[in-house]
Amino acid sequence: MDRLIIEGGRPLQGSVQICGAKNAALPELAACLLSDRPLTLTNVPDLADITTMCRLLEGYGVKVTRPNASTLVVDAWGAVSAEAAYDIVRTMRATILVLGPLLARFGQARVSLPGGCAIGARPVDLHLKALATLGAEIAVEGGYVVASAPNGLTGARIVLPLASVGATETAMMAAALARGETEIINAAREPEVADLGACLNAMGAKIEGAGSHRITIQGVSTFKPASHDLLPDRIEAGTYAVAAAITGGELELIGGRLEQLAAVADVLERAGVQLWPTDRGVMARSGGRIRPVDIVTEPYPGFPTDLQAQVMALLTLADGTSTLRETVFEARFMHVPELARFGADIALSGTTATVRGVAQLTAAPVMATDLRASVSLVLAALAAKGESTIHRVYHLDRGYEALDRKLVRCGAAIRRVAA
Ligand code: EPZ
Repeated sequence: MDRLIIEGGRPLQGSVQICGAKNAALPELAACLLSDRPLTLTNVPDLADITTMCRLLEGYGVKVTRPNASTLVVDAWGAVSAEAAYDIVRTMRATILVLGPLLARFGQARVSLPGGCAIGARPVDLHLKALATLGAEIAVEGGYVVASAPNGLTGARIVLPLASVGATETAMMAAALARGETEIINAAREPEVADLGACLNAMGAKIEGAGSHRITIQGVSTFKPASHDLLPDRIEAGTYAVAAAITGGELELIGGRLEQLAAVADVLERAGVQLWPTDRGVMARSGGRIRPVDIVTEPYPGFPTDLQAQVMALLTLADGTSTLRETVFEARFMHVPELARFGADIALSGTTATVRGVAQLTAAPVMATDLRASVSLVLAALAAKGESTIHRVYHLDRGYEALDRKLVRCGAAIRRVAA
């Protein structure tokens, strides 16, 4: 397994191209199963998770072509509701997103329950309840979800007890082919949900309100060939804003959209980071000293859980004590013991981390655990005095395209060493 060797203490300067959003690409790739016409996605990031989803789709008979590095054409004309290979499903939770489209298109589906992961149990009960509300028969047998709707799905009112991103996406995709109207109440409002709605409408769906807490879908019976350009990845943009701040540097995030980072910008500005829009995206500049802040992660438009680990790395160097309360996932503190190896002073109590700022981090060998935790270790290593080694960087490759190359172009001293 590859590892990264990072010599810290070098302020980053320059610009970074922000890629298309991984968490929009994954549901939009799954959505192609709804249609017998090709879907062309552009601004697609080159990530391991995207490759995994494409392999999964090919297992269902989807024809996947990549005319260039950032374009995918997926054609489910000849697809069948086969069974996905377990070795693919177990590596990525987002594979559950094929369940709704398979059921809506073919009337039946058998999909492995995704395992939990480093950040929590990650249940899918809300996905299953949404499909049952649309009239599906759902059973869980031997670690598989077995769903059937031999007479098709029927539009209904789906009230989500919590604004689950995945459950909202499953409900939207299944309802797109259901008979009649579906209303999703307490829908997740993440920009990636809005982007999926725009993609489905380009395919011929009739969806209103995606990105708001109430979504209405008029079922249709056929789709048309479609093209859709992915929105930029706000989590990648936020990650590089922290990279500028933690190294005392300045980066232009090309393609970043400040309006999708409002809660993040508020936190970073309170921590002393300067952010402003430019013609090409967003500029992030260190303000010198880092001030402590208190954060609570929340569903969008609140502070995103996917940036909690990265901002924690920044706050380990603040002039004072910060608290970070994680309300979305029950175990998203895998980065804490690894950050402590750099000399960070972090105490955990339940779902709250208390971070006492230290004057300096020092280099250490550390282990990546999950996608966002692993990038927080890279951020800490960029600031730490000395040479750090980060093991198991395959976690990084799942969600960050060419992270080491992008950082080297901005002045970081990073070497990737194949194991
Ligand atoms: C999506 O995961 C993202 N993944 C996650 O990003 C992100 O952290 C999360 O949304 C929250 O924003 C993708 O879009 C592929 P949820 P998802 O359903 O859909 C509970 C990353 O790093 N829940 O909004 O799985 C769940 O346990 C990843 O890119 C149920 O209880 O998140 C969690 O506590 C990590 N039952 C909460 O809801 C369900 O059926 C929010 O989960 C579904 C979820």
